[in-house]
Amino acid sequence: MELNLLTICYLIASVTFIIGLKMLSNPASARKGNLVAAAGMTIAILGTIFLYESEGQKLHNYAWIFGGLLIGAVVGTLAAKKVKMTAMPEMVSLFNGMGGACAALISAAEFYHIYELHKASPDTAFADIIPMGSYITIAAGAIIGTISYTGSIIAWGKLNGRVKDFSFKGQHIVNMIVLALTLAAAVFAYRSTVGTIYLPFILIGFFAFIYGILFVMPIGGADMPVVISLLNSFTGVAAACGGFLYDNKAMLTGGILVGAAGTLLTILMCKAMNRSLTNVLIGSFGGGGTTGAAGGKKEQGSHKEISLSDTAMVMAYANKVMIVPGYGLAVAQAQHTCHELEKILEDKGVEVKYAIHPVAGRMPGHMNVLLAEADVPYEKLLEMEQANDEFKTCDVVLILGANDVVNPAAKTDPASPIYGMPILDVELAKTVIVNKRSMKPGYAGIENDLFFQPKTSMLFGDAKKVLQDLCAEVKSI
Ligand code: TAP
Repeated sequence: MELNLLTICYLIASVTFIIGLKMLSNPASARKGNLVAAAGMTIAILGTIFLYESEGQKLHNYAWIFGGLLIGAVVGTLAAKKVKMTAMPEMVSLFNGMGGACAALISAAEFYHIYELHKASPDTAFADIIPMGSYITIAAGAIIGTISYTGSIIAWGKLNGRVKDFSFKGQHIVNMIVLALTLAAAVFAYRSTVGTIYLPFILIGFFAFIYGILFVMPIGGADMPVVISLLNSFTGVAAACGGFLYDNKAMLTGGILVGAAGTLLTILMCKAMNRSLTNVLIGSFGGGGTTGAAGGKKEQGSHKEISLSDTAMVMAYANKVMIVPGYGLAVAQAQHTCHELEKILEDKGVEVKYAIHPVAGRMPGHMNVLLAEADVPYEKLLEMEQANDEFKTCDVVLILGANDVVNPAAKTDPASPIYGMPILDVELAKTVIVNKRSMKPGYAGIENDLFFQPKTSMLFGDAKKVLQDLCAEVKSI
């Protein structure tokens, strides 16, 4: 009876994961989707704690379980409340690493469990105790989970600047050797006896640990979100292995969904940057310490500036204005002021829309989330293809802290590291106004020809301050 109830709990959890994931695909329902999936996870956890039974025994170590839950909940809640929007990818990476570590620990616990059960006969071969399929699941969980853990921690360090890019000649060959050693250790463990299982098991963890570091170390900073998404899918697969191991349907469904969603997201991000996954993993875009630096200097013409009052005038008398948000808008936390400007312009009869580039900002959907936070209506947000069709009908394009996603070098300069990345064709509009603080490059570390084109004017300053002043100026016209 209780087991049936537990199965129902897992079924409810699995269904909520699927519904939640579906809801996450739309900014309007994303928040609720998250809550729906979290409610399902709570049911699965509580069901496991109170209803799970093995060989007539229920879980009893409640102090450990609830102690862990409490610590995790407090740390998680505080971290999520404190984190800045721009540091979100770091947090995702850190949490993902924890997921990988959990999956690896489940495998370690299972190894230990088997050892404890059979330690009285130390000469028994491991292969005689455990079917190959179950062993592969345990070993895969340990390997993939550990790689995901160390890889995510390195990615976290890179995103917050604590870890620098590091690569050496022939690194990819070394990586392949370490991966081969990890797999060899797994085979060695299966062929070992119960009494000697410790060494090969430690070797599996050691080589997987090193591989996770080596795998992420050389990848360029700008590619980090893609890598995080890939590591996320690894964690999903590792968790699914745990689900197989314990015949736990909720864990299995959750793991498979995370694995599949992470893989699809990785593919979509690569597509948005027009790059293959191989190119991301062994290429060097955004690498070499150029991220966010003022590097990539190239001989350019001169740029022209526009004053705040002229900008207000041009915008107030326009028929149609397209706003292009980028990473700088998130840094300045200027989304609310931006929405205010949009409303003031609309009161003056100006049509205002937003052009959203799929990789603007630093994480998937960054601009959608940012503008949703300020209650910008979703129907005003145009996807890149739609926006590119509409730029020619715009009098003014106002670029707020975006750089790489409007860089024409992606179309015109085969030598550029962003060559081939689809960009927003802002230069099709009559006038282009760019707000940023300086002439420094964006995340890919390269100059932007757009800033030197005759129709472009630069409006320097912090996005929030500029938008506040702009609101006041436009109002007064
Ligand atoms: P970026 O190219 O990084 O440019 C952002 C610009 O914002 C900078 O040039 C900076 O110039 C300006 N800025 C910073 N703080 C500001 C502030 N307080 N006020 C006004 N401006 C400010 O951003 P983007 O155009 O959004 O492109 C995103 C980049 O990240 C792309 O290279 C993309 O490939 C990469 N990336 C994103 C993702 C995802 S999933 N979003 C994934 C992988 C890679 P100043 O310093 O002069 O102000």
